[in-house]
Amino acid sequence: MHNFTYKNRELYAEEVPVKKIIEKTGTPLYIYSHKTLLTHLNAYREAFDGYPHIICFALKANPNTSILRILSKAGSGADVVSGGELFLAKKSGIPSQKIVYAGVGKTEEEIAYALKNRILMFNVESSDELMAINKVAGRLKVKAPIALRVNPDIDAKTHPYISTGLKKHKFGIPIDEALEHYKLASRLPNIKILGIHKHIGSQITKTTPFVDALKKVLAFTDELKSLGITIEYLDMGGGLGISYSEEDEPPHPRDLARAVLPILKKHKVTLIIEPGRSITGNAGILVTKVLYLKKGHDKEFVIVDAGMNDLIRPSIYGAYHNIIPVLKKNRNKVLSDIVGPICESGDFLAKDRKIERPSQGELLAVMGAGAYGFSMSSNYNARRRAAEVLVKGKEFFVIRERQTYNDLVRGEKVPDFLKG
Ligand code: LLP
Repeated sequence: MHNFTYKNRELYAEEVPVKKIIEKTGTPLYIYSHKTLLTHLNAYREAFDGYPHIICFALKANPNTSILRILSKAGSGADVVSGGELFLAKKSGIPSQKIVYAGVGKTEEEIAYALKNRILMFNVESSDELMAINKVAGRLKVKAPIALRVNPDIDAKTHPYISTGLKKHKFGIPIDEALEHYKLASRLPNIKILGIHKHIGSQITKTTPFVDALKKVLAFTDELKSLGITIEYLDMGGGLGISYSEEDEPPHPRDLARAVLPILKKHKVTLIIEPGRSITGNAGILVTKVLYLKKGHDKEFVIVDAGMNDLIRPSIYGAYHNIIPVLKKNRNKVLSDIVGPICESGDFLAKDRKIERPSQGELLAVMGAGAYGFSMSSNYNARRRAAEVLVKGKEFFVIRERQTYNDLVRGEKVPDFLKG
């Protein structure tokens, strides 16, 4: 579901014509819909209503602090994976007791920062990390709340780069070795076992992998219980897919709840869910301008002003994003590659796509760009990172300025011998 629709053949973000926003900000531009963000968050809240749960938005999908404030005000917590994400979560008013911290490579500095902030729990990925957390907690004279991230060896049936729950992946502790790790955790003086965590991948389009993984994890928590280790929080990770083209129909949070709640009912645990993409993905678009058209050997190249530095998903995952004109004209469709200005053959937003033949200067909207869009953008080719706008009803707000050329050298230092 989203709120980017045509009215009289013109694309609107909620009630604002996209063209009107671009006149003020220029392109490339990310636009987000306030209404869509809330609809998506509330879909989770309603789906899991009645069962104790915390929704911890995965910041990596979109860490703009205005977006975080919207979600936080509507009750969301945060799943963070770095000191930087924790900083952004705190800055946006997300309560510490709704923050969980994952990732295989937490540094001691980051661990101390999280302990000082009294986050709900660390999702720990190895025994080395467990020892490091125990050490830092001892130094700070606190008990560190932890969950172990177990790897349930379940195929999420998604793109290999965004699948995480198989034995061969670097994530988590293999479930058949996790018992030893829990025993170790229970012996460490500065560790408090609070929960268990799993996350099997992203853009998952069926509920079965979630159910299978959860069953394995629950059977394991029963085993822990018999050893006197109680689990208060079960963090089932994120991963619910979204529709990137009209054909896909991934499950709704309601379907996920219907599939997992019956299995959870008899276990007295608080559920944590870490959605990222399914909250912000379809709440955002990337608007780009057609710079030039160029005849290729067997297709057209539509050269636009957004590149792989702005949206890298098509380049690295071969991801499909629907691309539509901001002003619909019903022209002939032509086979095109929609490419950016970057000096790489991998710089494309779409390949072999039949689209209405655009004209120079025209605006195109790349749909489903609200998750892993801006957050994965870079300054490659010394391109300034795009601006971001939030639309709420009839109003719009710039929530991040486009970078300036000076931003490109911010933080650089020139040694004296090179000056002058
Ligand atoms: N929790 C953990 C521990 C994660 O690693 C992730 C995503 C999430 C939650 C959120 O997953 P989501 O609900 O967004 O699927 N850059 C890739 C996606 C990488 C996902 C990494 N982990 C992409 O653009 O498709």
